[in-house]
Amino acid sequence: MSVHALAVLLQARVAELPEHRIANIFNPMASPAQAEYKIAMLSFAITGAIFVVVAGLITYAIWRYRRKPNDATNQEPPQVYGSTQIEVAWTVIPILIAFVLVGVSARVIAGVQNASPPAEALKITIIGHQWWWEVRYPDYGIVTANEIHVPATADGKNAAYLQLQSADVIHSFWVPQLSGKMDLVPNRTNYMWIDPREPGVYLGNCAEYCGTQHANMLLSVVAQEPGDFKAWAAAQQRAAVIDPQQAANKAAFEALSCVNCHAVRTTSSPGSGPAKFGPDLTHFMSRRTLGAGVVTNTPQHLREWVDDPNIAKPGCYMPSMKLTDSELSQVVSYLQSLQ
Ligand code: CUA
Repeated sequence: MSVHALAVLLQARVAELPEHRIANIFNPMASPAQAEYKIAMLSFAITGAIFVVVAGLITYAIWRYRRKPNDATNQEPPQVYGSTQIEVAWTVIPILIAFVLVGVSARVIAGVQNASPPAEALKITIIGHQWWWEVRYPDYGIVTANEIHVPATADGKNAAYLQLQSADVIHSFWVPQLSGKMDLVPNRTNYMWIDPREPGVYLGNCAEYCGTQHANMLLSVVAQEPGDFKAWAAAQQRAAVIDPQQAANKAAFEALSCVNCHAVRTTSSPGSGPAKFGPDLTHFMSRRTLGAGVVTNTPQHLREWVDDPNIAKPGCYMPSMKLTDSELSQVVSYLQSLQ
């Protein structure tokens, strides 16, 4: 099968996956999110009960001791001073409640944080940038962006382990249906793991204000059947397609400043080395969106994006290169060949 046909097939298979458009914390689909959901429900139940008791007592007191028509005008209710039983009760009960909440939270946090990866675990390095996500698979030599492909794992045995880093400021990785938030901090590596139980596309956001386009730093986790994941990984490992018909367009792309920030890998050697300033474009057309999820990857959007990214994503660091119409057509045509 040609690389192109394989890429088209893989894209069609991703399109068939159910998309969890609403990042719903009440519908957890992975172990960390499930554990956190349960403890959130317990906290809701305890604090809900406290609310009902306190609000109920206040309502009852307001109603029961309201002023009645034959009350004497400046009469005070009986005053209670220093009841040891009451003071012990309202000190001990809140302390016990706080102990329960702290204890169960600590247990869940430790359970999620301390899970160490099995030797054969899929490892992914995610590097936050203003305002996109670099995604690396060190064992596969894959470098991609904004879409994190992982195998779905019905029994939770094939979790993906994420190393979270940042190239600039603090970001926060949050895919609500898969796990709680974890910050990406410069000069530090944080860890988390996800084990999506069903194939699907799980949407997430950056959850730490990181500058102008923080709100448009979107990401998606594409959980695929293990076979489909392997096929995706194999396609991503290949070097960029070299289409002889694109020679002139490729030359135009390389003559412009695009290559200062974006890599197009032309050898099959694993992509490694330092973080690039912009997303790797080797298999650009395998991604569903542009600008970290701002617009879908259609020919029209791509042309508008290359023409001036600041229209779709004001403040983003990719400048308008003020390309002529024919240069624009060449660049877009070349990018579209990068299956
Ligand atoms: Cu990255 Cu907010």
